[in-house]
Amino acid sequence: MKRTLIRQVHLLDPAQGLDGPGSVLIEGTRLHSVALEDMDPAEADVVVDGEGKYLLPGLVDLHAHLREPGGEVKETLDSGAKAALHGGFTTVVAMPNTDPPVDRPELLRALRARVRMLKGPDILFAACISQGRSGKALSEILLLRDAGAVAFTDDGDWVRDGHLFYQVMTYSAAFGFPVLSHAQDPSLYREGVAHEGPRSRKLGLPGIPRSSETVAVFRDLEIARETGGYLHIQHVSAAETLSLIQDARAQGVRVTAEVTPHHLLWTDEVLETFDPVYKVNPPLREERDRETLRQALREGHLEAVATDHAPHTTFEKTTDWLVAPFGILGLETALSSLWTYLVKPGLLSFSRLVEALTSAPARILGLKDRGTLRPGYRADLVLFDPEAQWEVLPENLYSRSRNTPLLGTTLSGVIRRVWVAGEEVFPFP
Ligand code: NCD
Repeated sequence: MKRTLIRQVHLLDPAQGLDGPGSVLIEGTRLHSVALEDMDPAEADVVVDGEGKYLLPGLVDLHAHLREPGGEVKETLDSGAKAALHGGFTTVVAMPNTDPPVDRPELLRALRARVRMLKGPDILFAACISQGRSGKALSEILLLRDAGAVAFTDDGDWVRDGHLFYQVMTYSAAFGFPVLSHAQDPSLYREGVAHEGPRSRKLGLPGIPRSSETVAVFRDLEIARETGGYLHIQHVSAAETLSLIQDARAQGVRVTAEVTPHHLLWTDEVLETFDPVYKVNPPLREERDRETLRQALREGHLEAVATDHAPHTTFEKTTDWLVAPFGILGLETALSSLWTYLVKPGLLSFSRLVEALTSAPARILGLKDRGTLRPGYRADLVLFDPEAQWEVLPENLYSRSRNTPLLGTTLSGVIRRVWVAGEEVFPFP
C-alpha cells in the first residue's frame, strides 16, 4: 500500500488537543500514524514538506445546495465537488430542495451512483421529511434511510405541520438520525425579504422578524423534548434563539445548532447597498445578533459552522432586491474568510473554528471515521497556508455561480492541498 508522509507541518486537531509541529503518515486510504514529532522519510513512498503550513482534518459541511437535479445551471454535483475541495471540504451534505426534491429512494440511489463516479469529496445526502417538500405527508423515511440518507430536512421551508414534525422526530428517536430544521415560521414573515428592523423599515422592505425564527425553534424544541428525537437547528440568525437552545439543552433535550459564515461576517447594514448578493434566508440581522452568534461559537453553544452554500445565477442575483432569490455561496470561502475576519483579528481561536468545521459536524452526523486525525480514520486532510493570500475573482472559483459578497476581495489563508481517503485530489490535475 502506498505510504505518504506529511512532515514538518503544524498539526491542528482540536478533537484530540493536537496543536503543534508534527507529522502524519497515510497508508492507503487511512491514517497510519499521527505524532507531534518528526518521522523517518524512509518510511514513505511520497514525502510532503509542510513547513509553514497547518495540517487540518478535512472539513465537513453539514449544509450545501448542490442543485442537482434540476438546477444544473447554478451548480452540479461535479462543480459543487470541485468548489468543496477548493474550500477544503472533504465531506459535504447536499440538501434535498432540488427539482425534483430528494424524496424517493430511487432518486437518492441514482445521485449516490453519480457521486461514486466523481473523484472528489464524499458527498452525502439529506432527504426530504415530507413528500415533495409539500409539508403534507411523511416521506418513506426508512426506505430513504436504507438508500443512504444521513439526515432528514425540508430545508428551504419549515415543517409547519406539527403532527408531521412529531412523526419524523419519533423516527429520529427510534433510528438515531438528525432532523435538520429550517426553523422559520412563514406566517410571521409572509413576503419578507430582509431582517425586520429600523433599516428595513427605512428602506420600505418587507421584514422577516426574529420571532419567525424563535417561534419555530421553540416548537421544534418542545417536540424534540417529548419525542426524544435528535434536533439540529440550521443557520441560527437571531440572538434570542441561542437562549432557547441553551435552556433546552441544559434540560436534556437532544439539540445541536449551526451558524453560517455570512451570519458571522455581516449585518443588515449591507441593506444600504441594495445589492441582492446579500439577500439570504434567514436574513442578516443586527450587530447584537452577530455578536451573540460569535460569542456562542466561541463558547461552543453553536457547535458547528455550516456554509449554506446556495448558488444562484448572476442573472437572478443582479435584479431587484425584492425579486432576487435568497442565497450566498460559501464552500470556497468559508475557511479563509473566517480566518481573515475572525481568527486573525483575535475574535475567534483557530482551534475553535477548525473544531466547528471538522469534529463537531462529523459528530452531529454520527460519522465515526472522520473529523479528527486518528490512526485508522479516513485520510481526509487539508494543507492550509495561513500567510498566503488569494483574490476571490470569478476565474478563481470552481462553483458554477458567483453570488458571493466576497467577490473582488483578497483573503488570507490558501488551501494548498487536499487528500480524500488518502488520495491527493486538490490541486486539480
Ligand atoms: C436556500 C437556497 O437557495 O436553496 N437559500 C438560502 O438563502 N438559504 C434555501 C433556503 O434555505 O431558503
